[in-house]
Amino acid sequence: MSLHVVDHPLVAHYLTRLRDRETTPDEFREASDKIITLLLYAATQDLRSRVLETQTPLETTQGHAIADRVVAVPILRAGLGLVGPVLELLPHVTVGYIGLERDERTAVASRYYVKLPPDIDGKVVMILDPMLATGGTARKAVEIMKEYKPASVRLVCVVAAPEGIEALETAHPDVQIFAAARDRQLNAQKYILPGLGDYGDRLFGT
Ligand code: URA
Repeated sequence: MSLHVVDHPLVAHYLTRLRDRETTPDEFREASDKIITLLLYAATQDLRSRVLETQTPLETTQGHAIADRVVAVPILRAGLGLVGPVLELLPHVTVGYIGLERDERTAVASRYYVKLPPDIDGKVVMILDPMLATGGTARKAVEIMKEYKPASVRLVCVVAAPEGIEALETAHPDVQIFAAARDRQLNAQKYILPGLGDYGDRLFGT
């Protein structure tokens, strides 16, 4: 199973703040930062460390340093709101950006902006996109990132719909998905139910 729903009372608390229609953009951003930090705990659990000696004020002891290099890739626009906690938490992280637009007729996502750091080969790619709805955008983003031969690709989202999970799992079974919730379904306009509305609009007050 590639979906990991992070089951934790703090995640449930901040997800409820995000879902609440009365939550203002500044409260939304605060809850978003907190929930992403909590999701990162799960999404980084398999990162490799190297052992090193460190000197405490009292003696020498064994310590650890993260050995894997992570490339965070927010998907424009809402993914931008997830970058802050990633930069705060992950050492040596570099950031790339992907902008995708969906053809209204065919529903196929195509790239309009891709700006990536060099040397992705062998690194851990973490795609940031808060709402996994149809899965079209996530599939395309993974496809783009795999062109650069990373060691692995994972997706950090807040809410995932069954339709998007299935689409991503079918196309890329190796991709791990980390989410705060697996919601019920999409509506006719491809919004997630119960969901939280448009993440980008709520984050940026648009
Ligand atoms: N994107 C959003 O921001 N919200 C949804 O419900 C679906 C896609």
